[in-house]
Parts: sequence; structure tokens; C-alpha cells
Amino acid sequence: MRLDRLLCQHPKWSRRHVLGLLTQRQVAVNGVVAGNPTQEISAFDRVEAAGELIQAGRAAHYLMLYKPAGILSATEDPVHPTVMDLLPAELARELHIGGRLDRASTGLMLLTNDGQWSRRATDPDKRSPKVYRVTLAHPIHPDTEAVFAEGIHFPFEDITTSPAQLERLGECECRLTIYEGRYHQIKRMFGRFRNPVIALHRESMGAITLDPTLAPGQYRALTDEEVASV
Ligand code: URA
Repeated sequence: MRLDRLLCQHPKWSRRHVLGLLTQRQVAVNGVVAGNPTQEISAFDRVEAAGELIQAGRAAHYLMLYKPAGILSATEDPVHPTVMDLLPAELARELHIGGRLDRASTGLMLLTNDGQWSRRATDPDKRSPKVYRVTLAHPIHPDTEAVFAEGIHFPFEDITTSPAQLERLGECECRLTIYEGRYHQIKRMFGRFRNPVIALHRESMGAITLDPTLAPGQYRALTDEEVASV
């Protein structure tokens, strides 16, 4: 919501009074003087004006989790354990997932209660790189780099994937960088070569890399720098 609209919800303040407070430097957002009436305020911002607390601001949570194989990336499921079962219940209740992984896939998952942040983290238009280590059932076809660099058309969504980079690590193993997170994207990309994916591990999303000190199932809070990178 805009800062001026939030302040105008005060039962005793007119719009004129609110604009006066802003020009008199009597409004602070997260402890910093705010003068722009159109500044966007989220539920996580603390807003004070004329010595009154207008909005305390909810605590924002940003986590990375090492998803183990066999765990669903969903908030709840009647049958399978989910990533939320790996977190304390009172924290899990608040969080949602930023960028899913298939049940058999492992690696970096982002969890937060900040919807704007997770939308930015997963927005395909941002072309943010996601890096995966991929193990295939058969040797990687010699044309794979060229076909992935061209982009692959997915008729169901009618989109063409952004050029992806493939680094060979072995006959049946590679590191693949993609720029969207479509449903089963990597499996479908290798499906063009009839080459089933047998293991898929996400190493990074944008500037956030899975912490090498985390074991499967463990999580940690993101640093301020990691949060700000999105
Ligand atoms: N692509 C897939 O096919 N599966 C994942 O889990 C992630 C990307």
C-alpha cells in the first residue's frame, strides 16, 4: 500500500494533515525519514509518524533449505512428507515455497513469508539463472548444447525456453543453467533426446548458492546480502 494511504487510515488525520507530516519530516519507515507519499509499504515495514506507531511490521523470514530426495516441495500433502515437515511447526505455518523442485530432486529451496520477494525470485521475465547438476540415464547427445542454446519450444505452454548453457562433467553428467522454472523443465528438455534424468540437484538460484555446510534436510536463514540480491 502507498505510504500516504496507510497514514490516511489514522482516525484523526486528514489527507492534508498527512501531507504536512511528510513535508515536516515527521514520518519514518524502518527508522529512516520518509517524505515520498507514494512510497510502497509492505506488511513487513515499520511505520512511525508524529511519535505514533502506525504499523509495527511483521517479522519477515527468508530461508534456504537443502531439500532431500523423496520429500515433496508443497506446504501440505495427505500422503507424502513435505519440506514444511523439516521446519518447526510454528515457522512452517507462515512460510511458502519460492521455486518448486520435483519429489526426487534435491538441493536449494527458498522459503519465505514475503510474497513480493518470492515472486521476484521466481519471475521468469527476470531471466535469473538457476544452476542444476544433472545425471542422465544415457550419454549426453552431441547436439545437446546447440539445441539447448537455441531454446526448446514447449507446445503446452506455447513458450520457447531461454538459451540454456550446458557444461559437460562426464559422459552422463552435466551442469545446466536455465532461466525459467517451468514444470519438469529439465526433464522435458532432455526428453527431446529421449534421455531420462536420473538425478537432479539445484545448486543455485540467482546469486543464492546452496550452503555447502548444510546437510540434506537442514536449513538456515538467508543473509541480508542474499535477501537483497533478489
Ligand atoms: N526441472 C525438472 O525437471 N525438475 C525439477 O525439479 C527442476 C527443474
